[in-house]
Amino acid sequence: MIEYRTLKIALLGGGTVGSQVAKLLLDNAAELSSRIGAGIELAGIAVRDLDKPRDVELPAELYTTDAEQLILGADIVVELMGGIEPARSLILKALNSGADVITGNKQLLATHGAELFDVAEQVGAQLYYEAAVGGAIPIIRPLRDSLAGDSVTRILGIVNGTTNFILDRMDTFGDDLASALATATELGYAEADPTADIGGYDAAAKAALLAGLAFHTNVPLESVYREGIEDISKEQVERAQAMGFVVKLLAICERVIDPTTGEAGVSARVYPALVPREHPLAAVHGAHNAVFVQAHAAGDLMFYGAGAGGIQTASAVLGDVVSAARRHVAGGPGVAESTHANLPVLPVSAAVTRYHVTLHVTDQPGVLAEVSRLFAENGASIETVQQSSGAPAGAEDASPTATLVIGTHAALEASLAATVEALRASTAVTSIAHVLRIEGA
Ligand code: NAP
Ligand code: HSE
Repeated sequence: MIEYRTLKIALLGGGTVGSQVAKLLLDNAAELSSRIGAGIELAGIAVRDLDKPRDVELPAELYTTDAEQLILGADIVVELMGGIEPARSLILKALNSGADVITGNKQLLATHGAELFDVAEQVGAQLYYEAAVGGAIPIIRPLRDSLAGDSVTRILGIVNGTTNFILDRMDTFGDDLASALATATELGYAEADPTADIGGYDAAAKAALLAGLAFHTNVPLESVYREGIEDISKEQVERAQAMGFVVKLLAICERVIDPTTGEAGVSARVYPALVPREHPLAAVHGAHNAVFVQAHAAGDLMFYGAGAGGIQTASAVLGDVVSAARRHVAGGPGVAESTHANLPVLPVSAAVTRYHVTLHVTDQPGVLAEVSRLFAENGASIETVQQSSGAPAGAEDASPTATLVIGTHAALEASLAATVEALRASTAVTSIAHVLRIEGA
């Protein structure tokens, strides 16, 4: 057997994930080489600051600030710097110089993925990104390869560990959002600026990647509907508990029918939703991630594990390194990203959902009939109604007040949103306390 030459790996970024990738590459080089069928060599690690103290001990001579130079001559470039630039330019440079590229950068892929995949296809290189969604959880390759012969219909994902940790604290310990966030920050789950997590931006980028892969369609980040968890209150979580639900921030990717044209389309959306306690996603605690996939032939599948963390995410990156290296050894062009279905990405109004609306109303004859009329007029069918007497906390009005909790049957999001608007405008309704969608029921 002819021995294959040693493959050079350039690592761009030596932070939380990059340092662990470097350590695993060095510690396990012999075993990885056996699995690949060729030697591997870590050519260097590009960082911003050579003097920065590092938690993981690695040979000092590997570090460089010259990322461009490091890329030259590399067979595989691993981008773990994060952000858009210089990551985008460096990946383009690596692809154009003939290297395969591995990245964990969901933000970059969700905004510039089409450009990067086009270039990879033109030059016959591979662009792998298993670490970009769900950290250690294998979900990209199952969607891209294992389910390539099936038809995915729906994905419900808990793809952000920070928000899952916060919502789980609120559910399990009765924390309010601020104190749960403070704990997440203290334990190192939340970033100093938690906007990307709390606001659902990180989950939206991951939803764009999952929907694109599952439905063979380019799904631009701006077409993903997004709501964060900023307004989730302790009271909402308690009310959900009392009704057999748990609040989870979900990334939802679905094949849907456009209500205006009757044509197939894709819906990609992120929002906090009520999940029934008996659904497998309800059992996802702490900062863990899980992706629940429904496919025509396979049925229900669940992918679960650590959604972040240096060494955990490094596992996914290393898997990509081995795949890329094996392709080098086997030869032949890479497999291009498939966007052949080219389905339209529909607005959230085209999704079919269920709502849970908590209203404060004046407790007078005819009010329930008036509320029911507004639901019916807007095409939303009521499934459950619970009424309790009493004013909302802090209300000074002495007139008799009741709280209504109304659950709907599945209906077009547009109808449900119009119902809520009509309720807001109604004199029978004092205030709308909460509106949450129900998913997975
Ligand atoms: P990080 O800890 O902030 O590390 C970033 C690394 O990139 C640092 O070593 C930094 O250098 C280097 N870097 C940044 N800008 C640079 C530049 N302009 N030139 C040269 N080097 C530069 O980030 P991370 O947490 O490892 O995340 C890396 C990527 O993986 C991101 O795309 C992230 O979204 C993704 N990811 C992370 C996790 C996770 O659990 N952390 C999970 C899944 C995916 P210095 O060290 O000198 O500052
Ligand atoms: N900030 C992300 C999270 C890290 O909380 O899940 C992994 O992408």
